Amino acid sequence: MTDARRNLELKARDDDPQATRAAAIAAGAIEHGVLRQRDTYFSARAGRLKLREQRPGGAQLIAYERSDEAQERESRYRLADVPDPAATRAALAAALGITVVVEKERHLLLADSLRIHLDHVEGLGQFVEVEAVVPRGAPTAGEAERVRALRSALGIGDDRLLHRGYAALVLEALGARASLVEAARAAMQRAYAPYSRFAVGAALRDDTGAIHAGTNVENSAHPQGQCAETSAIGAMATHGGRRIVEIAVMADADLVTPCGGCRQRMSEFAAPDTPVHLCGPDGVRRTVTLGDLLPLGFGASDLPA
Ligand code: THU
Repeated sequence: MTDARRNLELKARDDDPQATRAAAIAAGAIEHGVLRQRDTYFSARAGRLKLREQRPGGAQLIAYERSDEAQERESRYRLADVPDPAATRAALAAALGITVVVEKERHLLLADSLRIHLDHVEGLGQFVEVEAVVPRGAPTAGEAERVRALRSALGIGDDRLLHRGYAALVLEALGARASLVEAARAAMQRAYAPYSRFAVGAALRDDTGAIHAGTNVENSAHPQGQCAETSAIGAMATHGGRRIVEIAVMADADLVTPCGGCRQRMSEFAAPDTPVHLCGPDGVRRTVTLGDLLPLGFGASDLPA
């Protein structure tokens, strides 16, 4: 690309955005508000092409090239303001096709010419980015040095660095989510529900990536019946799983939601931000978190020491 602008950027996972924010402010960064961004990626012939719609703010088309390296890396990009994002999105979708949509909430901080992004990306979690705009024609060595200095002030270790962009991570998560939903479907199809005739399937992904599924198992003595989620938790524990990172529940209903007892059972092994996909036979109808389903839940930390 000629005449492109250049950025240096670094991306990392962030389990403690409050601590990162405090470290950024201690390093002299100033908060510049919260942005809602929706990036629609199109299948470009060369490099990457996305339509960014931002609130507050407008829309821009961004064509860029970036190498996938787990360190500060250069991105070359071109920006074009988009006055009619809906029409532009429809035209590009028809001509090129959409590969993925990434939605996020971005807390923006500025430290001199460096930008710090504390990003909550839907379906992925929390990240931190450090970005420097490289002045036209200037060498990148000075910028790289400043990005590295800020990185160490924010305590970003090598193990947290990411070499891929959000689009690739969301695509990977969507693929993983599809496998989870299919496991819930297979379990639902094996329901033993002769009394209610309400078949339910549940699938859990544990922190090793393994999927465990279960179905509802009823009984002629009705209170002895067991929900799909409970069966799935039993399968997970039997295979040695102890942490749930994602949940799918499926039934042929408008919106199946786990019963109160299962919400409590899931909370034994899952954090409040764990996504729970509520599915019908056609797929995910709504995604909520366990915390949405079980606010103010009781946990082991409420027990006396
Ligand atoms: N059921 C589940 O398996 N999971 C839920 O989330 C809701 C209800 C089952 C229990 C029973 O076998 C049938 O659905 C009707 O209540």
